[in-house]
Amino acid sequence: MRIIKIFDTTLRDGEQSPGASMNVEEKLRVAKQLVRLGVDIIEAGFPIASQGDFEAVKRIATEVKGATIAGLARTKDIDIDRAGEAVMPAEQKRIHTFLATSDIHLKYKLKMEREEVLDAAVKAVKRARQYTDDVEFSAEDATRSDWDYLCKVTEEVIKAGAKTVNIPDTVGYTVPQEFSELIEYLINKVPNIDKAVISVHCHNDLGLAVANSLAAVLKGAGQVECTINGIGERAGNASLEEVVMSLKTRPKFFNADTKIVTEEIYRSSRLVSKITGIVVQPNKAIVGANAFAHEAGIHQDGFLKERSTYEIMRPEAVGIPQSKLVLGKHSGRHAFRARLKELGYVLTDEELNNAFEKFKQLADQKKDIFDEDIEALVSEQVSKIPEAYSLVELFVSSGTKQKPTATVTLKVGEILIHRTEHGDGPVDATYKAIASITDTKSNLLKFEVKGITGGTDALGEVIVSLEEEGRTVRGHGADTDIIVASARAYINALNKLAVRRKMSS
Ligand code: KIV
Ligand code: ZN
Repeated sequence: MRIIKIFDTTLRDGEQSPGASMNVEEKLRVAKQLVRLGVDIIEAGFPIASQGDFEAVKRIATEVKGATIAGLARTKDIDIDRAGEAVMPAEQKRIHTFLATSDIHLKYKLKMEREEVLDAAVKAVKRARQYTDDVEFSAEDATRSDWDYLCKVTEEVIKAGAKTVNIPDTVGYTVPQEFSELIEYLINKVPNIDKAVISVHCHNDLGLAVANSLAAVLKGAGQVECTINGIGERAGNASLEEVVMSLKTRPKFFNADTKIVTEEIYRSSRLVSKITGIVVQPNKAIVGANAFAHEAGIHQDGFLKERSTYEIMRPEAVGIPQSKLVLGKHSGRHAFRARLKELGYVLTDEELNNAFEKFKQLADQKKDIFDEDIEALVSEQVSKIPEAYSLVELFVSSGTKQKPTATVTLKVGEILIHRTEHGDGPVDATYKAIASITDTKSNLLKFEVKGITGGTDALGEVIVSLEEEGRTVRGHGADTDIIVASARAYINALNKLAVRRKMSS
């Protein structure tokens, strides 16, 4: 059976999803989870794009072991050098350089002739090889390129030292039949194609990214580029979980598998969704809330008689927890730490103490504590950012005959500041008070509330997006009191803005 490499680009192309930007700590958490998931290559970012991207790639290259760390670069010298510097600390490092090969891109975007593009691609690969033997070249917009020209570029970059040649469907334009013919064409026409791995990178504009990737695998592609939950530019990229589980579920058909630890899929999906704030649609294949739910009576009847009547994969195979009830009021620190470990969180003693204290408070308010509750508690601990502001006290009054009023006390540096405001509702009053204390100029772009688990005592999670001078950040807050959760989310986002402001000053 062939083993297909999984090149995960959640941290690069995935991060290009509108509003999905992640800070360095968040990227590190995702990268560590990607290692547990067993991906072969982590594309950690685009180092030339910003100082933040450079830092993130470098930190991941330094701290994350167990996968190849790739940095993206255009063919410009400055890009290659920056990517080379960023991935340098990694045990296994890759530079991924790209240049468009379609006439549309050459004419309108690059204003270059075909010969010039060929020349730049070859030079870039050679320069990247000075930093690492593991160089990937991508022919951007390959699927709308002239096939013979694409063959020529592929041949020359392999001669120059590229070990992987990526054939991106940058605009999600191709269809499975055509894409498999293109891969076949390259295999037949590029004389040195056996010296490199053929990779595919499909976007989902027509909803065909996974189908196109699988069609290419059938023809001999040895690497698939994808993202967790299929997030990415515009309609997204091929979804990692769908590609992997297709191969796993149909081994005889594909005669190919991956090294992915499928039991880590669900956890990876949850983590990426939580960090990016991009909610997974309920009917999303593999990881959606309804992916394993049987609603129709006939289906339920068949399923109860024999699971395989209506189930082609086991939820356990992708790590969907079977028994979700985990801990309660009487659980000790030991059980709490063990459960956290199972969920993939390894905390320092101080973080564990803080999280355990919060867990006990929650256990007093809520009888049953679920994995999701625990994750909400610890995610605040592990993505800790310096706190310019912290919530000390919140008092809210509202009702059918009362003007909603909130009194908020925040610790700002070493000083306690109180403010009382009225609003259109208790959240509005609370936000006005916080805004007045912090004197923020930010705009609230998004405010989302969800119940993490069922029941009126459920932990509520609030996600807010704030914008200030072109910078967008997301804040999270969780509490059984939804107004407190709202306040925490707003303060979390304001703290992130304070960090960003400091970084750019
Ligand atoms: O979609 C694309 O073409 C890309 C390249 C940089 C590989 O993301
Ligand atoms: Zn892409």
